[in-house]
Amino acid sequence: METVGMVVSSKGREADILVQDNRVETGSILRIGDFYGIVAHMRYREDEKIGSKQKLIANVQVFGKLGNNRLLKIKKPIQPYAEVCLASEKDLGDMLSGERNISLGNVYGTKARAFLDPNEYDRHTAILASTGAGKSYTAANLIKEFLSLSLPVIVVDTHGEYQRLLSHLVKEENIDIDLEVYTVKYPRKGFRELKIPVSILSPEDFNHFIQLTEPQKTALETVLDKFEGGDYLLQDIIDKTEGLSQKDFHEGTIRALKRKLVSLERGFRNVFDRYGTDIAGIVKPYQVTIIDASYAPQGVRQSVVSYLASELLEGRIREKNEMSNPINYELLFVVEEAHNYASSKLSHSCRYQLQRIASEGRKFGVGLCVISQKPSKIDEEILSQCNTGIYMHITNPNDKDHIRRSFESINDEIIRDLDSLDVGECIIAGAMNRIPFLMCSVDDVGVKREHRRKFDYEREDKVQVASSGYV
Ligand SMILES: Nc1ncnc2c1ncn2[C@@H]1O[C@H](COP(=O)(O)OP(=O)(O)OP(=O)(O)O)[C@@H](O)[C@H]1O
Ligand SMILES: [Mg+2]
Repeated sequence: METVGMVVSSKGREADILVQDNRVETGSILRIGDFYGIVAHMRYREDEKIGSKQKLIANVQVFGKLGNNRLLKIKKPIQPYAEVCLASEKDLGDMLSGERNISLGNVYGTKARAFLDPNEYDRHTAILASTGAGKSYTAANLIKEFLSLSLPVIVVDTHGEYQRLLSHLVKEENIDIDLEVYTVKYPRKGFRELKIPVSILSPEDFNHFIQLTEPQKTALETVLDKFEGGDYLLQDIIDKTEGLSQKDFHEGTIRALKRKLVSLERGFRNVFDRYGTDIAGIVKPYQVTIIDASYAPQGVRQSVVSYLASELLEGRIREKNEMSNPINYELLFVVEEAHNYASSKLSHSCRYQLQRIASEGRKFGVGLCVISQKPSKIDEEILSQCNTGIYMHITNPNDKDHIRRSFESINDEIIRDLDSLDVGECIIAGAMNRIPFLMCSVDDVGVKREHRRKFDYEREDKVQVASSGYV
């Protein structure tokens, strides 16, 4: 095998390699004797061992050697001056694959598939990157891979893009998968509508639709307390508001609250209903259910996430406890633009519901996948429960800091270098990955690219009006 470098020093599980071949880059997987390691970062350095000229040094994280088809951890440092080669495709296949595998693309710079362990889906995943870096393409590949292993997937789609991406992927690869799309608020021909039960709305949630003053919120809390069980409509709340005692609340408060509730009822009549869509019925093996909330206002989307998160987890808990209306299958819940639902500053119930899945989901077979271009806005508690991190191009220093704080499995140099990733390239670290981290070129979904928006208009005809010039 062709030598690409030599070990110049090593300590613990790290080794510095003198690079002698252009093919070695950050993310390259190297073979040093029987051991394997990955280039975490590179720099030019000069010292007496390698000569007086600045030489390119790769810092390598050595993660183990292959034995009985599994990786055995390294127990002592690598021998200095050992020769280094690039790991072959067979080596990569052997070290990355297990009994069951999924893959989002190739190991960076090679034709080997970047295999991941699908069984770790319930330790939750975060796909984090700046806008346009390829998050949705990556998520579509991830969803397709889980679907082909039969795991039901539910996606909250805020840009209305997953139907197009997934149908293309499924067709290209000839996979037999069912795609079910539900619209929210704005019905479209041929699609079902997702309905949310009024009873999931907390007084705080109402505040995201209709700005309530403190007295109005207290009045609303009093009204909601009067309902037993979850069987009511917005009109019932309005009726009960009318019945509030003027001894307890100012007449103006009652009137204003009623006015706001009436406008809510008029504007969102087709979103909320008495019982809501039966969520247990949309979770099926080999089926992805896409909730297309692309035109819905933020308050509605938040209620969608809150309802789905709560019902998916409750359905699984019911199954465990052998209660009625269970969700019989483990599942993956994918939330796009997660910073809108899991922000640490958000008072909406959707944040609490996502927190619940992040901390309890694993026990009940509910995996969460959060996708965001603003990681620093996501509650640290939720992000730190995502044991698999898929990071793509990120430049914002606040986002990088937040990732550093929330994820143990990734080191500072890798985070610092996230700006150097191109569109479609990602670093995968944590639970689903069988080595410490992996650089992957995600498969192109192949959907025809939209032309770049560029202004190149024809001048409009001018009309001469009498003798007074042009208008
Ligand atoms: N793996 C890939 N291979 C080739 N091209 C890609 C890949 N991933 C993304 N792209 C290109 O980048 C564009 C943006 O990708 P994508 O929509 O997935 O980004 P995003 O991070 O989800 O963006 P946004 O923040 O707008 O949601 C795609 O339209 C496609 O042209
Ligand atoms: Mg996207």
